Amino acid sequence: MGIQITPSILSADFADLAGEIARVPSADAIHVDVMDNHFVPNLTLGLPVVKAIRRATDKPLDIHLMITDPDRWAPAFAEAGAEGVTFHAEAATAPVGLARTLRGIGARAGLALRPASPIEPYADLITEFDKILIMTVEPGFGNQKFLDVTLPKIRRTRGLIGSSGATIALQVDGGISESTIDRVIEAGADVFVAGSAIYGAEDPDAMVRALRAHGER
Ligand code: DX5
Ligand code: ZN
Repeated sequence: MGIQITPSILSADFADLAGEIARVPSADAIHVDVMDNHFVPNLTLGLPVVKAIRRATDKPLDIHLMITDPDRWAPAFAEAGAEGVTFHAEAATAPVGLARTLRGIGARAGLALRPASPIEPYADLITEFDKILIMTVEPGFGNQKFLDVTLPKIRRTRGLIGSSGATIALQVDGGISESTIDRVIEAGADVFVAGSAIYGAEDPDAMVRALRAHGER
């Protein structure tokens, strides 16, 4: 089974986002981290920048909302033309209603979980989503160390997706590199965010292809 690689522009040069996105033509989508300094202790970019990125590339945009009150803010990112909009379970008031709204706009809906949040409370809801995102670091910053303690949850989530019979992507985000990706593939993830590993590489596109090759072994 092939895997997808979604470079995170959090580790790119924010003064030249169009140029940085053009450096990863092999990417399956561009991962955009929206942080509000409330849900996480960091502030990145918001809707106006996402709209500008939308105009600058034809790549699918994979929006990761690390914000409070996604019920209020997430639909605008779908309306801006993002292919996928992922919000955090810990922040959403009505995750099913929000997922239905996002899908109604034409976006793929994603549900994200911090490392300490269990998947089990959402077991009956996963078919409302196109993607489950398991954070493999605490959200907020790039270039953190991969948390191996998240592997059992990835494995359990793969099991839930399998028994649901639905097509649901299982994405991981945080600390993914050539030295960590193999055990995450083995645990059942199929979509991989990587920020520092890709944009810290001399040839970012070669790193996208090198990471993807781990799924073909
Ligand atoms: C962290 C972000 C990640 C971040 C990953 O909260 O959600 O997308 O860019 O960066 P790396 O791959 O460097 O851990
Ligand atoms: Zn992210």
